[in-house]
Amino acid sequence: MSETSTGDAVAVAATAVQSAATDSWRRAGLAGAAIGVIAAGAAAGVALERLTVGRRDALRRGDPADAEAFANEVRRFYPFVPFVGGLAAGELRWQGVVVPEGSLVLLDVYGRQHDPDVWPDPYAFRPERFLGRSVASDELIPQGGGDAATGHRCPGEDITVALLSCLSTRLADMNYLVPPQDLSISLRRVPARPSSGFVVSLRVPSDA
Ligand code: HEM
Repeated sequence: MSETSTGDAVAVAATAVQSAATDSWRRAGLAGAAIGVIAAGAAAGVALERLTVGRRDALRRGDPADAEAFANEVRRFYPFVPFVGGLAAGELRWQGVVVPEGSLVLLDVYGRQHDPDVWPDPYAFRPERFLGRSVASDELIPQGGGDAATGHRCPGEDITVALLSCLSTRLADMNYLVPPQDLSISLRRVPARPSSGFVVSLRVPSDA
């Protein structure tokens, strides 16, 4: 899919579908937000292991731009929410395809985040792709698409980025070992998270 067409897909899914969520789903959603942030934190730990010593040092120094770029690459690279779903509130047409009212519409979040037309070399973890550029709202959609007030976009995105940035800087500055564990991430569960979580053993200084 080209950049334009996936951007259109984001807009269609975000504005023309209504959430199937009931009030109880929404309450569950807030619990889900906390679980999502925990999953994102575990993924940030896994991602730190991919950084060169130089990049980890930059994160440790606490430069806000580096921390935000790292947080955004974690959100792009790892599939906390592989897709977002909704029901078409009315009949709609997209690129000649008619979507009848009541149809289930899925926004392919993982696909968009790994679309090579939007993200060159999408399976490489590169925080620097976020440095020195602004990102259009329909490019980066790890927490849904469209506008948070009217579409299917999470209103907690800024908080998530701030939490991840802060956590990543702290983690980069900690002295720990990562024992053998299963860090694979299955796309079959939401939120997707490393199978083992992210278990670390702290190294305690010998004079402590
Ligand atoms: C990694 C962390 C998070 C992920 C992946 C995530 C993802 C999402 C997604 C996909 C939606 C549904 C959008 C839709 O279909 O309408 C959503 C909704 C929501 N999120 Fe998040 N979220 C995260 C963190 C947070 C945080 C930290 C907060 C608040 C502090 C938050 C608050 C909400 C609320 C209130 C909604 C419901 C909005 C509505 O229905 O009007 N989320 N989130």
